[in-house]
Amino acid sequence: MADRVLVTGAAGFIGGRVAEDLERHGWDVTAIDLRAAPGGRTLCGDYRGPELHDQVRSGRFSAVVHQAAVSDTLQMDRALLDAMNTSGALALAESALVGGATFLYASSFSVYGRIRHDSPVAEDDVHDDALCSGPLNPYAESKLALDRAMIDMTDRGLLWAGLRYTNVFAAGERLQGRASSIISQILTKAARGDRIDLFADTMRASRDYVPAATVCAAVRGLLDSDFTPGVYNLGSGHATSFGDLLGWCAEFGGGRPADVRLVDNPIPDRYQYWTCADVSKLRAALPGWAGADIDVVRGEAEAVFDHARRALAAE
Ligand SMILES: NC(=O)c1ccc[n+]([C@@H]2O[C@H](COP(=O)([O-])OP(=O)(O)OC[C@H]3O[C@@H](n4cnc5c(N)ncnc54)[C@H](O)[C@@H]3O)[C@@H](O)[C@H]2O)c1
Repeated sequence: MADRVLVTGAAGFIGGRVAEDLERHGWDVTAIDLRAAPGGRTLCGDYRGPELHDQVRSGRFSAVVHQAAVSDTLQMDRALLDAMNTSGALALAESALVGGATFLYASSFSVYGRIRHDSPVAEDDVHDDALCSGPLNPYAESKLALDRAMIDMTDRGLLWAGLRYTNVFAAGERLQGRASSIISQILTKAARGDRIDLFADTMRASRDYVPAATVCAAVRGLLDSDFTPGVYNLGSGHATSFGDLLGWCAEFGGGRPADVRLVDNPIPDRYQYWTCADVSKLRAALPGWAGADIDVVRGEAEAVFDHARRALAAE
């Protein structure tokens, strides 16, 4: 019989892809989300519900892949963020411990805040003010609080990993305004010939973009291996500047430059100007994981661009 896995947040961008990927690779997936998911196979409910916890505690699942969260980085309601992103996740980890399930959860690269050096960021950098500022918003605080509480659980026998995703993107991502990945917004607007507003001080700002398929492969790899519990960066390990990205858009569009308007950055003090993950810890844990080199990132970017162009043609 296939191993059973619980995926939370399965109607979301990443959780939906992770659930599909695990199912395709032979896992017996139970998926849950507050929202109904297309296809109807996702249970509609709160991952914090007592019945679900009873099932996790009963040992029904060999793994829990926890993706549910308030993912809006501009959310300012600390009580909501604590309930959904921190204490709720910790309670699920406790249930996984009782049920003997491996527990993987989505943390975030936002925990590092502003990076104060120009080399890839390692997991422990978050503990050193000289290397990074730490969280710049309540969302990032909620993720770091979870990471810290999980680290405190390390000796209790739970097999767990907190995955600090950088900027996850994929072709076919449903764009939902400000919550969508910036790379997909830029590529889609460029493909449609729409104007792109960029902060004037960010043309050289660089981000680590990681395809969702690379995230899915890492999750699957961890579920198939004996790794050391802890937090792991999960990105491509490449920093792509907005200038480079606009260059790609021009190439994908046959030389047509994107229509860019530079606007004032209203949040320069809370803006991450540079992100690049050091993924060597994850690579060491998962020698079979291909990761994403810059060609893979560019290839996924081209797929997003083409997808948007085809959607425009079909309108
Ligand atoms: N997308 C990224 O680039 C990125 C980067 C860093 C971290 N993350 C983290 O990865 C995870 C997945 O992100 P995403 O981009 O797919 O976000 P998403 O908003 O698309 O998906 C999150 C899903 O969780 C669900 N959810 C929220 N609270 C719930 C609850 N109490 N019970 C059940 N379902 C609930 C939402 O309905 C939503 O469908 C989140 O934890 C997010 O914080 C994402």
